[in-house]
Amino acid sequence: MRRIMMLITVATVVFACGSKNESTNTEDYGEAEVPTEATVVDENLIGQGAALVKQNDCNTCHHVTSQIVGPAHTDVAKKYEFTNENIKMIAERIIKGSTGVWGPVMMTPHPNLSQADAEKMARYVLSLDGEKEPE
Ligand code: HEC
Repeated sequence: MRRIMMLITVATVVFACGSKNESTNTEDYGEAEVPTEATVVDENLIGQGAALVKQNDCNTCHHVTSQIVGPAHTDVAKKYEFTNENIKMIAERIIKGSTGVWGPVMMTPHPNLSQADAEKMARYVLSLDGEKEPE
């Protein structure tokens, strides 16, 4: 009877270790699956915003320093102070579309973007003239 108890104890310990290793491996896979630079989780909201601008259609109409269809993003940064109100306002314009602020040309709406993602992109744009992020 003692022997059997010993066996059970050993088996339990081995099993516990086995499943612990397994969960560590799953975490490793999670990291290895990150395929591109753009999806790397960046704690920095401005960095995330830059990645989102690359992933979306923004650069078809915007260039960092030159006007194309829309204003150069550095010009947008110069026009607005880096405040929380401006982040919200610009994010709403990105989602709902905009016209009449820079000229008659329309920025197409982006209804699939979340407010949070649009705000990250607004942060990135507003950071382009070197202004510091609001607290
Ligand atoms: C179809 C072309 C087009 C696309 C695509 C586009 N924009 Fe625009 N964007 C414009 C135009 C045109 C304006 C100026 C609108 C106005 O005068 O109201 C503008 C304005 C802006 C502004 C300034 C808003 C303000 O309040 O002054 C920002 C910031 C901006 N776009 C960011 C983005 C981002 C980020 C994306 C991608 C999600 C994007 N745009 C996609 C054409 C575009």
